[in-house]
Amino acid sequence: MEEKLAIAKGIAEKYGQEHILNFYEELSAEKKEELLDEILTMDFKELESLYESTKVKPNFENAKIEALPHITKAELTEEQKQKYTKIGEEIIKQGKLAVVTMAGGQGTRLGHSGPKGTYDLGLESHKSIFEILCDNVKNAREAYGVAIPWYIMTSEENNEETIQFFEKNNYFNYPKEKIQFFKQGTLPMLDTNGKILLNEEGMIKQAPDGHGGVFEAMRKNGIIYKMKEQGIEWIFISGVDNILAKFVDPIFIGVQAEEKRMTASKSVIKAYADEKVGVFCKRDGKPGVIEYTEISDDLAKALDEKGEFLLGDANIVNHQFHISVLEKISTEKLPYHIAFKKANYKDKNGKIIEATEPNAYKFEAFLFDIFSAVPDMLVFRVKREEEFAPVKNKEGKDSPETARQLYKKFYNL
Ligand code: UTP
Repeated sequence: MEEKLAIAKGIAEKYGQEHILNFYEELSAEKKEELLDEILTMDFKELESLYESTKVKPNFENAKIEALPHITKAELTEEQKQKYTKIGEEIIKQGKLAVVTMAGGQGTRLGHSGPKGTYDLGLESHKSIFEILCDNVKNAREAYGVAIPWYIMTSEENNEETIQFFEKNNYFNYPKEKIQFFKQGTLPMLDTNGKILLNEEGMIKQAPDGHGGVFEAMRKNGIIYKMKEQGIEWIFISGVDNILAKFVDPIFIGVQAEEKRMTASKSVIKAYADEKVGVFCKRDGKPGVIEYTEISDDLAKALDEKGEFLLGDANIVNHQFHISVLEKISTEKLPYHIAFKKANYKDKNGKIIEATEPNAYKFEAFLFDIFSAVPDMLVFRVKREEEFAPVKNKEGKDSPETARQLYKKFYNL
């Protein structure tokens, strides 16, 4: 241990981060070990370059942005719909579909004290978001006679509480062995001087590494391997916060399988020019998503020859991959985006500082950055009222209130 401590000290000093051992002596033996392991395995060089990147203003203006073609579900002929549905149903019945929910986010905008999925949406049934999502696999089991494996990505912060919630609710009467949790990666948070923040315990303050961390986390936790062993071919991945997400959608699988498009995303038409959604596009000839924070006013308003938004396909975080693609992209390194957030921390005198203003950098990979590596990407446009009811904010737009209304309308409650 003494030797390990000396090495950790040396490394921390080399990178000007010696304060991360300030409270070492106050930690339990287990935590001491954990901290040393973190220091010994941390990529300090990467952290340095991440901090350097906070000083450069990102420049999106040089990229060539064009529309990405889509297929509109409502424009398929009856014959096509039947054909695709049949193909999709066959795939589901053969047990070749698995679903993944990304629930590792911090959900700061909602401000709920537990993991977002545990939020009671205020329906008469008092179903939590997780229970509403679980209905997807429960209904599919009834319809197709297969219990589809459901993988849930959590973070270091919310993993235990999430599992306890499922235990307490008896996995919503879905076979427990079909639900598996896995943790996403983390990255240290930095202050404005590039120093690593410490949490209340005096350990390194880590934050989830973004939804783009899902691929690496699936690989590192052996999920992709396990899926292959089980003969899974298609994987649907979505966020925890869309309560109308259709996890199991035969027509979506069918169209992808038949058109031989190994990566697909669902979209809905952007409601108005400055709606706060990312939109699908071609960036320098490659598929991608341009965030509302990156798009110029002119481009956000631009119309095509039909009078529709040129970039009108909003990303609703409903993606579906063939296992072959997932395996390949799980080794790709995605870029990190910078967020400036409020973060409580322990200062060098041991005082806990409660942040009232943003004070710390958080680094996140975005799932959609992977699309530039998958040239055959399909955008499948569906109806907003049927598939999109986001829970993001505490009140106002995209809040539990608006999501509840959309949900009730869809189910005629
Ligand atoms: P958001 O971008 O809405 O982030 O995530 P968030 O962390 O949940 O919410 P805010 O911004 O703090 O209010 C979109 C989806 O991606 C998941 C979220 O759980 C949500 O389902 N996500 C996000 C992760 O699983 N891990 C992350 O690191 C970030």
